[in-house]
Amino acid sequence: MVVVGGGVIGLSLAWRAATAGMAVTVCDPTPGRGSSWVAAGMLAPVTEATTEERDLTRMGLASIARWPRFAADLEEETGVDVGLRQDGTLQVAFDNDDRRALDHLAAVHHDLGLASERCSSSRCRALEPALSPGVRGGLFAGDDWQVDPRSVVAALREALQRRGVPVLRTAVRSVGVGPGGRATGVDTDDGEFRRAGAVVLAAGADSAKVAGVPDAARPAVRPVKGEILRLRAEPTEVPFTRTIRGSVQGRSVYLVPRLNGEVVVGATMQEAGYDTTVRAGAVHDLLHAAIDLVPAIEELRLVEAAAGLRPGSPDNAPLLGASGTPGLLLATGHFRNGVLLAPLTADALVEVLAGRPLPADAAAGCAGRFQ
Ligand code: GLY
Repeated sequence: MVVVGGGVIGLSLAWRAATAGMAVTVCDPTPGRGSSWVAAGMLAPVTEATTEERDLTRMGLASIARWPRFAADLEEETGVDVGLRQDGTLQVAFDNDDRRALDHLAAVHHDLGLASERCSSSRCRALEPALSPGVRGGLFAGDDWQVDPRSVVAALREALQRRGVPVLRTAVRSVGVGPGGRATGVDTDDGEFRRAGAVVLAAGADSAKVAGVPDAARPAVRPVKGEILRLRAEPTEVPFTRTIRGSVQGRSVYLVPRLNGEVVVGATMQEAGYDTTVRAGAVHDLLHAAIDLVPAIEELRLVEAAAGLRPGSPDNAPLLGASGTPGLLLATGHFRNGVLLAPLTADALVEVLAGRPLPADAAAGCAGRFQ
């Protein structure tokens, strides 16, 4: 099998497939350096839940339940700590409109049976003393966690290397489709045709651009740009311990603290094609909102500003499994949830590659739903 794309999704499914005894090759000119490199790593099915996307929320819950095992297996196999932190997420509000948005989120949680705790402003500050006195209240979701995506990528690459899975630094020019309409392999930039029994498109927003894919099988994904910042403190001086999300006068922001002193501040959402430039206004808006929530952010070092392309799908859920072209499978369209959904995606694709149906907890991501 050839996996097109070496981000968290492609590497995860390659690893799980190799573990299941399948022969795998991954092709990516810059493995792990696309949106997985930029992602914050929030595992947030609860604070990202919406009533309209309850199936997606269920998939998120099914995947986050797999994360402890996934992380433990990876760490055991490679010795790399992937930074799984299970200390919950605090969503806070800054003004009355933000509080109404929090009320709505609490109602969604009630409706979907998700656990969260409404917090007064003083309870919020008891949980995170660095929060601004302007915070008007919050909601604590103990079941929303985080991992460090860069460590996850490093661990997956190490695991694949140990298992002898080639990760080729080459772009896939086109998918080869035989006269019978079956995918037969991929043409790569190094001039080779790599024959394969199955091809899995796992190239995020680029999945829509791979040539040779029959129109009916082409994944309905589009790039949704996200600008994001990385700040640094001394590991003992990060001013807060849990992921803090907030709405500051209608502007959404999240702050993800790591034990190594990194603080990720994200993220914008913009439909701007494949553009990955970082706008000065985006940096301003993110920092402004972050400092409004946690004034001590002002003292941290700004070490990186980057933009990634989320692979958006028409209903924000991923496209998993059979594409309609025999031998060509999809694992893309994860939009805001690529890191969260990696374990479920990997398990689901291994099932399909083994000739079994998409598992029930991944069925809402069935790629055929738009065909
Ligand atoms: N998962 C958060 C984001 O896409 O910004």
